[in-house]
Amino acid sequence: MPTMTCYRDPASPIEERVEDLLRQMTIEEKIGQTQQLSTKEDVQAEIGALASEGMLGSLVLAGTALAGNNSNNNIRHDLLNNIQRLAVEHSRLGIPLIFGRDVIHGHRTVFPIPLAQAASFDPQVVENACRWAAYEASADGVHWTFAPMVDISRDSRWGRTAESYGEDPYLSGVMGVAAVGGFQGENPAADGCILACAKHFVGYGAAEGGRDYNTAEISDNTLRNIYLPPFKDCCDAGVATIMSGFCDINGEAVSGSHYLLTQILRHEWGWDGFVVSDWASVGQLAEHGMAEDAADAARIGFNAGVDMDMSADVYRKHLRKLIESGRVSEDRLNEAVRRILSAKFRKGLFEHPYIDIEKSHAAMRSPVALADAERAAARGFVLLKNKDNALPLSKESRVGIGGPMLDDRRTLLGCWTLDGDPQETTNFREAWDEIAPEMVVARFNPALVDQSLLQICNTRADTIVLFLGEDQAMTGEDNAVVSLDLAPGQVELARAAKQWGKKVVAIVQCGRALVLTNLEPWCDAILVCWHAGSQTAPAVVKTLLGEYRPSGRLPVTFPRHTGQLPLHYNYKPTGRHYGKGGVRDTDFRSSLERYNDCPGQPLYPFGFGLGYGQIQMENVRIESSPKTVAALEAGEPVVLAVDLINTGDRADETVPQVYVRDCVSETTRPVRELKAFRRIAVDAGQRRTERFELNARAFGYYGRNGSWRVDPGRFLLSVAAHSGTPFQLEITLEQDGVSVS
Ligand code: BGC
Repeated sequence: MPTMTCYRDPASPIEERVEDLLRQMTIEEKIGQTQQLSTKEDVQAEIGALASEGMLGSLVLAGTALAGNNSNNNIRHDLLNNIQRLAVEHSRLGIPLIFGRDVIHGHRTVFPIPLAQAASFDPQVVENACRWAAYEASADGVHWTFAPMVDISRDSRWGRTAESYGEDPYLSGVMGVAAVGGFQGENPAADGCILACAKHFVGYGAAEGGRDYNTAEISDNTLRNIYLPPFKDCCDAGVATIMSGFCDINGEAVSGSHYLLTQILRHEWGWDGFVVSDWASVGQLAEHGMAEDAADAARIGFNAGVDMDMSADVYRKHLRKLIESGRVSEDRLNEAVRRILSAKFRKGLFEHPYIDIEKSHAAMRSPVALADAERAAARGFVLLKNKDNALPLSKESRVGIGGPMLDDRRTLLGCWTLDGDPQETTNFREAWDEIAPEMVVARFNPALVDQSLLQICNTRADTIVLFLGEDQAMTGEDNAVVSLDLAPGQVELARAAKQWGKKVVAIVQCGRALVLTNLEPWCDAILVCWHAGSQTAPAVVKTLLGEYRPSGRLPVTFPRHTGQLPLHYNYKPTGRHYGKGGVRDTDFRSSLERYNDCPGQPLYPFGFGLGYGQIQMENVRIESSPKTVAALEAGEPVVLAVDLINTGDRADETVPQVYVRDCVSETTRPVRELKAFRRIAVDAGQRRTERFELNARAFGYYGRNGSWRVDPGRFLLSVAAHSGTPFQLEITLEQDGVSVS
């Protein structure tokens, strides 16, 4: 048994504990810390042996390399406690293993997919969802989650759009920070907290054609201004770990990129957590053709800055020889181990290594968690159309409910649901039957138009509510699509119902932007509910009845046609920003009008969403503004204000969004960028003023040579309902008191 030394003393500072432990470790034990293996059946015996010899750092609690596409993958408490016991009580130094798992959007209580959480435009929703996820997962023995994913998703063909916070770096950063706070809490060692991991550093979402794992070409300018900022935000918020991605960007696979993993992450940002590879992404450097073999891959990945290898087993097998031959330095090994041990101490693992099995059962799916999951689901719903106030439905409506998703349970939970159980999940049919059975006059579930729908339309119902959209299996890892269209038959259902003169309400489930161009004309109302977790169905039914007010906003642009992709609101201006008719606009919208066979504008822009009420945004104004760049940088903010007036007869919520355009800059800048937003409730008849303070970050960018700068000159500003709203305001910042305009 180990003796009590400083590293075992929780009262000693973490740095001292780390140094004390490091001093006592052999090279093999150090290398062991850098290795993570999976809990695949075939390696369990080996894991036990390695744990008891102190030759293993971590386990990823996943049965396959595609954990997000598998279910029934439940955690085995006895197995984990046994393996941990070998590490803690049998190994020479008793260093606990750290157990990581993909707890992406809830654990046993499943919260909305991250894209749906982002649609809430409410960081509190994200923080709360992650807090519950951490609470349940930690009771199940998870110390560390591989979330949040802050990859920017500009192309919804990519299946992992569902796991992201969408296309915008600012929104993704705000939500990423909220997630880190929710998972880690003030102190990750506290009960109910786990370590977070910002992933997949970086550029993974830019895969060519949306094809998962594919090459990304991202200019340094776009990398620094679009893809890196949400990661930097997570680092600044104290995220404990970062995952290095699979993809090749700009000619280097990320997991072998010293530039990204050391130059930017360590030297420029000064971040001190540890980097874990994505599943076998270090070993795969050989497949990328950057390494000769597995040993060479280990050398490149480790020297580039990947501190822990997930499941390729290349560090355990090759680092010793690489160190002996001088191709990897012992200093680099010490650096990686220091970071890993710091995280283990930070998590309080030495004090609490085991799962309390009794407590675990009691922690799952509490009524409070389920109620929070329902509210979170409702807050992310986006109302895209509501002709003549088709919604909310009156209790007197005679409703026919149907469509291919009526009885589905699994899809409601979304991708990356390792621990949620579809059998515990209420589907739409059951939710209606529980909440408002008296309204439902008919039910049908075929995916294609058939006699049942026609009969319902012919006789009984005045309103047809159709549950449409995409199956969760179309989303997540390695689930790219070439078309964002609805599956065959879905539009036809809406058309058939409309042709009978019914009010048609489409509830669209999805994990990405879909093309709803053909559906839209046949619907009176369209509500996007994403894959919103355990409580999706009751949240939808209550929203249709007006108990919840839909006030989510789109975190991704919904195109008219898949062929427009990639399509995002923050595109760059072109030199020919006039439309095909030669009409030049000041808002750079015409530069999208380049197709002969389709309008270029999106069907629904980023940030778009309606409510049941009528809140007007008026009197957008600048309340104060610094004169110079220097004053802005010294802390004097630009203050914008907007009046929100609820002219309707019901309380409602809205999301004023602040967009900025830098008109003249050293490098080209996007036509507009989101810089602030806030979700605001306004009572019927009420008027309120909201103020937004924009600091230097809202006006600066990374210019040539990757350096941060704020340029003097003109800026356009708006406080708007969505990204498709024209700018209303303008300021000019002078350089050191000298006017440049
Ligand atoms: C995914 C990661 C995930 C890891 C562990 C990989 O295939 O890309 O997002 O965290 O597996 O399951």
